Amino acid sequence: MPRRHELFLRHIAQTSPSPLAFTVHKAEGVFLYDEENQPFYDLISGIAVSNLGHQHPHVVQAVQRQAEDYLHTMVYGEHIQSIQLRTAAKLVSHLPEPLTSVYFTNSGAEAVEGAMKLAKRYTGRYELVAARNAYHGSSQGAMSLMSDSYFTGAYRPLLPGIRYLTYNDLSTVECISTATAAVILEVVQAEAGIHPANQSFLQAVRDRCDQTGTLLILDEIQTGMGRTGSWFAFEQYNIQPDILLVAKAFGGGLPLGAFIASNDVMKSLSHHPILGHLTTFGGNPLCCAASLAAMEVLEQEHLVEQVLDKGQYLISRLQHPAIREIRHRGMMFALDLGSQDRVLRMVELAKAEGLLVDWFLFNMKSIRLAPPLTISHDEMDDACIRLIRALDRLDR
Ligand SMILES: Cc1ncc(COP(=O)(O)O)c(C=O)c1O
Repeated sequence: MPRRHELFLRHIAQTSPSPLAFTVHKAEGVFLYDEENQPFYDLISGIAVSNLGHQHPHVVQAVQRQAEDYLHTMVYGEHIQSIQLRTAAKLVSHLPEPLTSVYFTNSGAEAVEGAMKLAKRYTGRYELVAARNAYHGSSQGAMSLMSDSYFTGAYRPLLPGIRYLTYNDLSTVECISTATAAVILEVVQAEAGIHPANQSFLQAVRDRCDQTGTLLILDEIQTGMGRTGSWFAFEQYNIQPDILLVAKAFGGGLPLGAFIASNDVMKSLSHHPILGHLTTFGGNPLCCAASLAAMEVLEQEHLVEQVLDKGQYLISRLQHPAIREIRHRGMMFALDLGSQDRVLRMVELAKAEGLLVDWFLFNMKSIRLAPPLTISHDEMDDACIRLIRALDRLDR
């Protein structure tokens, strides 16, 4: 019998030459346990998914209960499933009017695809504007929004009609015109290494969209569900999107995303042509059960209200000369270590200290931290002591 690592390399498709290959034995709270049952702090939450840590009993019970009732019954949008209704209603209860209509998807990328199609169908235009260094997913439509030709070059031709503006640069907002169907933006550019939008920039984009009849799509796939200190990061900017995208933590640990719009905008998917977006598994009952339970935990444990305080607390314990800059919003952080070499070494040094950290897609000088929102102050103290020890070894 080949060893586990060989089976991993042989049967699990690889997308990088040197995968972390951490063997997960079990997970609980803020910890992942390896094959020897050694605990590791999960300081990245499966890339901003496990906001409640792992195996939260309320979520696990909700999934078990739903599994006993029914799993899949019919493709999206045909049957009335109480768990979908309750999940959509809970999500919408945290959103302003008129964001009331929810289209459930399997993933973040599918939410992006659905939103791009919806904007094209609603406006009758095909041009889309995205920001340089944004990441919206890896399907061909979502990838078309990526400005970095290193990642897209091999997959051309991608979608035509994509224009790029420079994030937080007011002068480039002019590229939004009456030919633009939608602008799609992250509220905090995550994979670029945690760059929050400026108020004046987001306001200028919103205004320009209003002037030109362009829809504003905000991608809160990484920032949503409390990660930045409010349920959605856009709430901190006094603006709102025409289409909101969620995924990652929205699924409570199971695969679920959504694009949300007004009923007026969303209904354009139902005629000329009908079946404007189709999905078999989007809104799967098991995923909705996990999502609803996760939102209930966020509410009941007042986790969103604690995010700003916890974020500041973590930063106050993370002072070290090897860190050139900390960029953060709530509980998402980038620690700038100055070079890719140091970042890769830090990932290994942190692992040796029992910490799982990661790098970013478009910022190879920074370490990513996005711990579960449930992390306690004691756990933050301990994790920071270990991080500082790893940083001490970085230049030895
Ligand atoms: C901001 C943002 N949008 C979209 C996506 C794509 O989501 P998924 O991986 O679920 O397709 C990601 C994933 O990292 C993301 O960070």
